[in-house]
Amino acid sequence: MHYLKDISEVRKKISEYKKNNKSIGLVPTMGALHKGHVSLIESSKKSCDITVVSVFVNPIQFGPNEDFHKYPRPIEQDIKICEEVEVDILFNPAVEEIIGDNLKTFVDISDLGDNLCGAKRPGHFRGVATIVSKLFNITTPNRAFFGKKDIQQLYIIKKMVEDLNFNIEIIPCSIIREADGLAMSSRNRYLSEKERIDSLVINRTLKEAVKLIEDGEINSKNVISFFENKIKEINSAKIDYVNVVNENMKNVELIEKGNIIAIAVYIGKTRLIDNHIIGEKICW
Ligand code: PAF
Repeated sequence: MHYLKDISEVRKKISEYKKNNKSIGLVPTMGALHKGHVSLIESSKKSCDITVVSVFVNPIQFGPNEDFHKYPRPIEQDIKICEEVEVDILFNPAVEEIIGDNLKTFVDISDLGDNLCGAKRPGHFRGVATIVSKLFNITTPNRAFFGKKDIQQLYIIKKMVEDLNFNIEIIPCSIIREADGLAMSSRNRYLSEKERIDSLVINRTLKEAVKLIEDGEINSKNVISFFENKIKEINSAKIDYVNVVNENMKNVELIEKGNIIAIAVYIGKTRLIDNHIIGEKICW
């Protein structure tokens, strides 16, 4: 595995691969890799000759009161995981390498970022879209792999690729869950033992809400209040949002197939997200 920190080194290596007609898969991450990331890497390895993983905790996608400074950065562990699963390039640039001190150009993701996480984290998706564009330009992948847990991010990136004519196929990958159903996230490590148990209210209620819909409930208001009432039963849990949206990330009143029930819940100080696309099989 090539562990690279400089853009120029990555470009050089990738152009060598491309000269030999190798296809490139990119898995963009912020590190603290877990099984969810490994499944993205495995998908890339299945369909691309070369897999590039980027590990970059992107300062411009964090709000001023968010966890940028405390975000976990276990790079030695990440290197080990990438070696074990035979990643070809691990790109781990410094902030100065990617952002510099005079970044003036940003990707505006318009109203796709007005709802859900975008509404709660102003500027977040602008930061994501800008950095992902940079990573696309640096690594020039044929395919890039994104998890469905960050569902709004996935839809925004897909639209950005279409709108800005990136010649890259975006591959959505399933949410990977712990055995008890909690969606895997680098932020799960913030949870205390008690909070970890409390956090199960999220996936449990999501599953029950999906069951309600499958049994015929089409009014999103009823599903949302069902969700709110269940979350209230757990002291450490506080809803940030729960919405049912269409693929343009707009709230829907009447639920139909393909809509997404998307939630963000604080467990103590830790904000966790989860979602389900209506019509897809429940797999937890
Ligand atoms: O999903 C993430 O980890 C980040 O938002 C991403 C796509 C790596 C951009 O920083």
